[in-house]
Amino acid sequence: MAEDLNIINGSREEQYKSLLPQIKALIKGENDLIANLANVCAVLKSQFNFFWIGFYLVKDKQLVLGPFQGPVACTRIAFGKGVCGTSWEQKTTIVVADVDAFPGHIACSSLSKSEIVIPLIEENEVVAVLDLDSDKLNDFNETDKIYLEEIVNLLLNKNLFR
Ligand code: SME
Repeated sequence: MAEDLNIINGSREEQYKSLLPQIKALIKGENDLIANLANVCAVLKSQFNFFWIGFYLVKDKQLVLGPFQGPVACTRIAFGKGVCGTSWEQKTTIVVADVDAFPGHIACSSLSKSEIVIPLIEENEVVAVLDLDSDKLNDFNETDKIYLEEIVNLLLNKNLFR
């Protein structure tokens, strides 16, 4: 149950390691996509308190804002645009140490300084992206990439996207 979420102190890696089984348990008995995406955002926000955490879902050949935690955000992003649209186009995780240095970055908030976007890929098609923004420069690295990719795989394994 959500109220049992165990928040720990420790390295970024230790924090992810603690979250993985908890996320697995949280989404295990639920087959509603939006409910699971919403809870994953809440878990990441509760543990890390990043500035913004959310999903964009591929709909009608655009990324459309889905469940998120944080300030209001852009609702639609085109293929190839911004960090999210680039992650979609390239089908790969993108880590941006300084968003001002990323050509075409879409600034939903001037407080966002660094970002990581993980594509969710099903049968070689991107079905959604997970976007995390930090108000600190250079806040994401390979550890985040590895564990966030594991987290999106837990969601993809439930086959709820289409
Ligand atoms: N910065 C993103 C847009 C989404 S917001 O950060 C929530 C981008 O460049 O795609």
